[in-house]
Amino acid sequence: AAVLSLAVAACGGGGGGSQGGGEDVTVASDIAYPPFESEKDGEPVGFDIDLLDEIGKRAGFTPEYQNVTFDGIINGLRNNQYDMAISAMTITPERAERIDFSDPYFNADQSLLVPSDSDIGSVDEIGDATVGVQIGTTGEIKANEFKDRGDITGEVRTFDTIEDAFAALNNGQIDAIINDLPVSQDEVNGSDGALEIVQVIPTGEQYGIAFPKDSDLRQDVNEALQEIKDDGTYEEIYKKWIGR
Ligand code: ARG
Repeated sequence: AAVLSLAVAACGGGGGGSQGGGEDVTVASDIAYPPFESEKDGEPVGFDIDLLDEIGKRAGFTPEYQNVTFDGIINGLRNNQYDMAISAMTITPERAERIDFSDPYFNADQSLLVPSDSDIGSVDEIGDATVGVQIGTTGEIKANEFKDRGDITGEVRTFDTIEDAFAALNNGQIDAIINDLPVSQDEVNGSDGALEIVQVIPTGEQYGIAFPKDSDLRQDVNEALQEIKDDGTYEEIYKKWIGR
């Protein structure tokens, strides 16, 4: 994909995008993570989508979103299957050894989500209950940390998407979910009182846009991101998708 983009750029951007102009850039995302990315009428929508579309307008590229499994994004970037990824992805030192990140664009913590009638009120009350996580996420890492420490003695069950985990929680197949707070909060908001967050797990995570190592898009993205933060556009996108 990177090769294609370079080729388009070399032709003077003649290939063009549907909007915003400039080169087409292939962007990986697990588009099942509202309010950051989800599908509406077959189109990707969400905080990340608005943010990157805006970045693209300013940096002169058009994002072409590819819906992928979150767990495969880092290897896909390393194999140059995509030019970048935006997927509510936390910047971690381990990931930063394998791929590059933009400057941070969002702060998030983890959270413990349970059915409202659950007896579980905090992580140390999970005991031998089953905890769901999305595979390859910082939620999975956190859950396994609790397991190593003995706070969780039951199973940590992994799901390909967080929506599969939410479905399993609603079906009673699992007892709790550890996941990024804004996303689980969004699920609570749509649950009609059936679900609640009983604990915020402060991890101080920051999301970044991800690139293959040494991508020349990174600098342009950082500059556009800074502009968007400075001129109030970031705040508008934040209000639209996160509220408050
Ligand atoms: N922030 C967490 C992480 O980076 C979860 C991200 C999951 N994103 C998604 N689109 N499913 O591991």
